[in-house]
Amino acid sequence: MGLLTGDGLWTAGIFMAIFLLLVDLMHRRQRWTARYPPGPVPLPVLGNLLQINFQNMPAGFQKLRCRFGDLFSLQLAFEPVVVLNGPAALREVLVNYNEDTADRPPMHTVEHLGFGPHSQGVILAHYGPAWREQRRFSVSTLRHFGLGKTSLEQWVTEEAGCLCAVLTDYAGHPFSPNTLLDKAVCNVIASLLYARRFEYDDPRLIRLLDLLKDTLEEESGFLPMFLNVFPMFLRIPGLVDKVFSGKKAFMVTLDELVTEHKMTWDPDQPPRDLTDAFLAEVEKAKGNPESSFNDVNLRLVVSDLFTAGMVTTSTTLSWALLLMILHPDVQRCVQQEIDEVIGQVRHPEMADQARMPFTNAVIHEVQRFSDIVPFGVPHKTSRDIEVQGFLIPKGTILITNLSSALKDESTWEKPLQFHPEHFLDAQGRFVKPEAFMPFSAGRRACLGEPLARMELFLFFTCLLQRFSFSVPAGHPRPSDHGVFGALTTPSPYQLCAVPR
Ligand code: HEM
Ligand SMILES: *[C@@H]1O[C@H](CO)[C@@H](O)[C@H](O)[C@H]1NC(C)=O
Repeated sequence: MGLLTGDGLWTAGIFMAIFLLLVDLMHRRQRWTARYPPGPVPLPVLGNLLQINFQNMPAGFQKLRCRFGDLFSLQLAFEPVVVLNGPAALREVLVNYNEDTADRPPMHTVEHLGFGPHSQGVILAHYGPAWREQRRFSVSTLRHFGLGKTSLEQWVTEEAGCLCAVLTDYAGHPFSPNTLLDKAVCNVIASLLYARRFEYDDPRLIRLLDLLKDTLEEESGFLPMFLNVFPMFLRIPGLVDKVFSGKKAFMVTLDELVTEHKMTWDPDQPPRDLTDAFLAEVEKAKGNPESSFNDVNLRLVVSDLFTAGMVTTSTTLSWALLLMILHPDVQRCVQQEIDEVIGQVRHPEMADQARMPFTNAVIHEVQRFSDIVPFGVPHKTSRDIEVQGFLIPKGTILITNLSSALKDESTWEKPLQFHPEHFLDAQGRFVKPEAFMPFSAGRRACLGEPLARMELFLFFTCLLQRFSFSVPAGHPRPSDHGVFGALTTPSPYQLCAVPR
């Protein structure tokens, strides 16, 4: 009983505080070298957690960069973090040190989904055998997809056709293109994963997209970050289900699709899609406990490809249309190039890209300007590394400011403006400066880049081949400032699509 009275509580409290301070000190001692990047003074235990403005991360970080320079440090509770700025530092860390910086920080908030030693999905997987196996599998499935039947390019071309058919129905009335773009891009991922597409009014497609949105929202912000650095709170009964209810429901929907798929799976036929190929690997790996091909990991891999491949691509396309209505002169030049190289009848193909430097430059400039994943995905050092004279010890979380490369003043003539000439030389040939890294770089760079490139090119050219886009009459000119959330999205806008 004594323990619960005032005195006992005080003693316990003081012990607890001393204990936490000691743990804190232990974590921080190794940072006390003169060559560790500078940063704001952290509070005990919490570190700089309270100094981060989760409502507007870029603005808050901007101040720190001004004060401390291109490489600066933060302390998120017990986790040391270094923020990297500038194309040179980013290349050095991601490419030159690729082996030593390819790990990811621990994500305790995904353990409830089945994340474990042999089931880590791809995005958040530690740098080790489970990641290597799944990365290789995804890359090679993407590359060899549909050797037998429909190729990924055919799927994308067909989907672009469906998208254009719906735009015709709007008959020039103002609308917001975002939901439609989400659906079209979602269908491309669905074709890769399940060899199927959904009609745009299919309730399951609508639900899948809603849940995906919820998932992204509940994974960003203060609470998930807090729970990740203080994982003991995740044990509070019912908390995980409440905070991550969207993710749970999303996974259940994916499970249903896989279950349906298993019923029609014939191991003797060539795989129809990524799920079939995965199931075949699971069969092969039966009896090998070390393998990452298992049912738990199937749902994690599928969910990773969905989340990584969906909103990124559709958000970029939404930026592309926005920038076209804001820059009608650029839109006209793209259409002129389409008319010259492809004409008005034939569908665009990937092979056309090489002969369309201007369109290619516009798509790259859309990605550079829109800068949708400004901070990339965090990495972690698995060895001490030395960058630009600073020492970054093993076990430090790295935040790669991709934005600092995409908006670098010494690379780009007009870093803050939409200027497709950034990607053209004096003769009008396409060029790609090294600082262009919206997919990051090195071992962990986006594995979906070839698919994303294909979707951006085919959707964009199909749309501009058939329609001219404009700001609806009487509407104010929309802003080209992004809204920072899980991704940087354009501010809400509407447009008119008039058949050409
Ligand atoms: C415009 C579209 C896209 C952009 C801007 C983008 C950007 C990125 C970025 C910045 C990363 C983090 C790289 C790093 O950790 O350094 C990443 C990782 C990843 N992306 Fe993409 N991505 C796009 C489309 C896609 C698509 C279509 C897919 C799948 C089909 C995909 C799958 C992945 C996966 C699986 C990873 C994790 C790779 C790993 O950890 O090894 N992405 N992406
Ligand atoms: C990231 O880079 C952008 C563009 O250079 C800059 O405005 C921003 O302050 C940087 N953020 C951090 C965290 O350093």
